[in-house]
Amino acid sequence: MHLKIDKVYKSFGYGAQRKEVLSDVSFDIHSGEFVALVGSSGSGKSTVMRLIAGLDQPSSGTISMDGSKIEKPGPDRGMVFQKYSLYPWLTAAQNVAFGMQLQGRPKREVRERCSYFLDVVGLGDAARRLPQELSGGMQQRIAIARALAAEPKVLLLDEPFGALDIQIRESMQEFLHDLWRRTGLTALLITHDLEEALLLAGTVHIMAPSPGRIVRSVSVDLDRSAMAHLRVSPEFLSMREELAHCLRGLEPAVGA
Ligand SMILES: Nc1ncnc2c1ncn2[C@@H]1O[C@H](COP(=O)(O)OP(=O)(O)O)[C@@H](O)[C@H]1O
Ligand SMILES: [Mg+2]
Repeated sequence: MHLKIDKVYKSFGYGAQRKEVLSDVSFDIHSGEFVALVGSSGSGKSTVMRLIAGLDQPSSGTISMDGSKIEKPGPDRGMVFQKYSLYPWLTAAQNVAFGMQLQGRPKREVRERCSYFLDVVGLGDAARRLPQELSGGMQQRIAIARALAAEPKVLLLDEPFGALDIQIRESMQEFLHDLWRRTGLTALLITHDLEEALLLAGTVHIMAPSPGRIVRSVSVDLDRSAMAHLRVSPEFLSMREELAHCLRGLEPAVGA
């Protein structure tokens, strides 16, 4: 699998209202990679995501999957958003089954895969619960199970833990890393949280706003076997500090 974002520009509006939101954005994701896009709010991260999802088209440049241009949404890209996108009237299992039913998979296969993916996210026991009976973290795990059940080539995560409390967010980061290690999934994580990006991704692209663009790309080669240790390791902290400095330098001055 090779997802290629190649010299992508995106503008909204016309004439004097025209606003350039993405300028010359290029990066690649290959099978098994975990890539993160980090930037402050408004730097165009969700726009990149929507273009990869096929929900919108670049103004120029191309996005392709294995050489084919992406023009519309498809099951090869699984999406998870910040806001819980579960159907509140369906149980956890029914939510996971939903996409597979749309794909027209046989009932028995849907049932088996459903319990398999609920187990993958550690929520086999919650199959019959409604979303409102589950914590925010559990709901996001169900959303991830639902996305994985459709067997996407790449999992697209847009601020998936942004609405969660800090402790839950940290345990979800550990969960996502563990899931990536166990299943060998390919993921693009979009976040404004630099620490989250560095903890999880092998490649981190830093975006700046107005217009949204990638200003720095780093390979992150850290020992992630013990994430609690990693968070406070000197190596991690100095990398975070340096890049935080870079990100801060990109913020518009107060009052500007
Ligand atoms: N459909 C749209 N029409 C006009 N402007 C948009 C549209 N979508 C996004 N924008 C603008 O593009 C910029 C980047 O937005 P977005 O991609 O959501 O950033 P981020 O996800 O990094 O916070 C913002 O200034 C936003 O107002
Ligand atoms: Mg966004």
